Amino acid sequence: MKKVIPIASDHGGFEMKEYIKNRLENEGFEIIDFGTFSNESVDYPDMIHPLAHAIATEQYELGIILCGSGNGVQMTANKHPNVRAALCWNIEIAKFAREHTNANVIALPGRFIPFDLAFEMVKIFLNTSFSGGRHELRVKKIGLF
Ligand code: RB5
Repeated sequence: MKKVIPIASDHGGFEMKEYIKNRLENEGFEIIDFGTFSNESVDYPDMIHPLAHAIATEQYELGIILCGSGNGVQMTANKHPNVRAALCWNIEIAKFAREHTNANVIALPGRFIPFDLAFEMVKIFLNTSFSGGRHELRVKKIGLF
């Protein structure tokens, strides 16, 4: 089944967003781009809240967000119920984000890791399932409401 993946960034993650988008499209994914659409300075919540809302309302299963450090976008997305955004900077962390914490959004630091590594992390993230079991009990304890 062809997967539809939403992606969003600010200017700090724009170049990496374009790179990941192009490579995923080349592999047959359909990408829904929530912006931003240039290097011009923007406020990351303006792009990330709409994507996170779409994940929270189950319009999409998994999403990708980027800014310079990855922190601003991750903090924004995690304000939404049922969104678990994980800041990832290596392959193992991206894998554990899915296996152990059932993350449904990967947050990437666009200014601090190589683009090809970021793409490999995205591929691992999209192709790894939640392990459940003891991890499910822990994930269920994360939410406050
Ligand atoms: C933008 O300059 C930068 O602050 C932003 O991309 C991000 O790193 C915030 O967490």
